[in-house]
Amino acid sequence: MLRRGGLRFLHRKLGFFGLIGSTLVFIFYTLTILPPIDVKIRRKVIPIEPILNLSQSDFIGNSDQLPAFEEHYFNLTASNFLSSGRAIPDTRPPRCRTKEYVLNAKKNVSVIVAFHNEAKSALLRTISSVINRTPPDLLHEIILIDDFSRNELNANILVNIPKTKLYRNAEREGLIRSRKIGALKASAEYIVFLDSHCEVNVGWIEPLIDRLSYNPGALYKATSTNLKAGFDWSLRFKWIPRSDEELQTNHDETSSFASPTVYGGIFLISRMWFHQLGGFSSDLEIWGGESLEISLKAWMCGGQVEIAPCSRVGHVFRKKHPYDFPHGSTHTFLRNSKLIAENWLEEYKHFFYFARPNAQGIKIKGNTDVGILKEKLQCRTFSWYLQTVFHEL
Ligand SMILES: *[C@@H]1O[C@H](CO)[C@@H](O)[C@H](O)[C@H]1NC(C)=O
Ligand SMILES: *[C@@H]1O[C@H](CO)[C@@H](O)[C@H](O)[C@H]1NC(C)=O
Ligand SMILES: *[C@@H]1O[C@H](CO)[C@@H](O)[C@H](O)[C@H]1NC(C)=O
Repeated sequence: MLRRGGLRFLHRKLGFFGLIGSTLVFIFYTLTILPPIDVKIRRKVIPIEPILNLSQSDFIGNSDQLPAFEEHYFNLTASNFLSSGRAIPDTRPPRCRTKEYVLNAKKNVSVIVAFHNEAKSALLRTISSVINRTPPDLLHEIILIDDFSRNELNANILVNIPKTKLYRNAEREGLIRSRKIGALKASAEYIVFLDSHCEVNVGWIEPLIDRLSYNPGALYKATSTNLKAGFDWSLRFKWIPRSDEELQTNHDETSSFASPTVYGGIFLISRMWFHQLGGFSSDLEIWGGESLEISLKAWMCGGQVEIAPCSRVGHVFRKKHPYDFPHGSTHTFLRNSKLIAENWLEEYKHFFYFARPNAQGIKIKGNTDVGILKEKLQCRTFSWYLQTVFHEL
């Protein structure tokens, strides 16, 4: 169900070893911070004429001369072969097509894409899909953060791409800090984080903005999609089936529903709320755990996390990270997980150490910022989170 026709098509077409995934469609919002809506506009998703159609000659660059598969862990030949303006199947549940959304041109989005040694074709396809499938009045800007890639992206190629700004880190910061840098440069009301090897589908942004602009206290029905995003005690991501009870009370396939976490690096959040939450913790290194951390903070400190099934974003999953971690990816992930356990799990952190005994020996420094944040936002306890949000854990 998650990998619908369109993605299977993509998968076949690209011949990736990894999976091409699914509906990475998450939003955060807060119950307390939303200002009242001034201008409300209800409208359906209007198809947009694609304006960008880059092709192979734009894609091939220095970084792409290297042995392709080892460099990117996906089939670069196939990726380069696809034009960026290509049509892809509409994979939304059918009723999403006629749904009306509350949108407001003043509450538009900054899209943030951080990357390190990304294949040019994958990156440019990500950007073109955003340009081609986001209503111009809702897209304020695209912010690219080049995290010190080996080959600098030639900025000339971006000249013809509207609204796109490129920044390059002077040294390697890791994707987590790079996204945070992007968020600091963003100026729209909302920010969206996208991985650099995605392809957004038609109507992807409208359902997300819609949820953020409503009075979040309003009642809403959720969907027949039966998976939400969660994790296990080793703090590894896993899909969780929605309970029969949840499915019975909410069975509108187009409505968003609450989820313990987001999945991966793709979500929309109010910019102000992101900064109030302290963004992703700067102590987290490179990659791993940041979406869990921000989800816990969002829930425990007064917000919510939802999945919006009408918003579809294709994503290239890779078997391996194509970039290096200074201390190895397993160590980095374990260290990041330990930081999250120490900062947010309270007495439940013992379950984490039971699941990941190797984490005991890793040295981390205490973090006073977390205490200040909890105080300032009057964050609730992890035990509240377990009882209210994630009793399946
Ligand atoms: C990569 O894609 C090309 C073009 O679609 C195909 O000819 C080739 O066999 C693929 N290579 C791998 C390793 O899948
Ligand atoms: C984009 O270009 C490719 C060829 O490079 C073409 O097949 C495709 O139809 C074009 N798409 C649009 C929307 O013009
Ligand atoms: C986005 O909204 C801001 C005001 O919130 C406005 O200044 C800006 O021009 C808008 N961007 C676009 C592309 O409409």
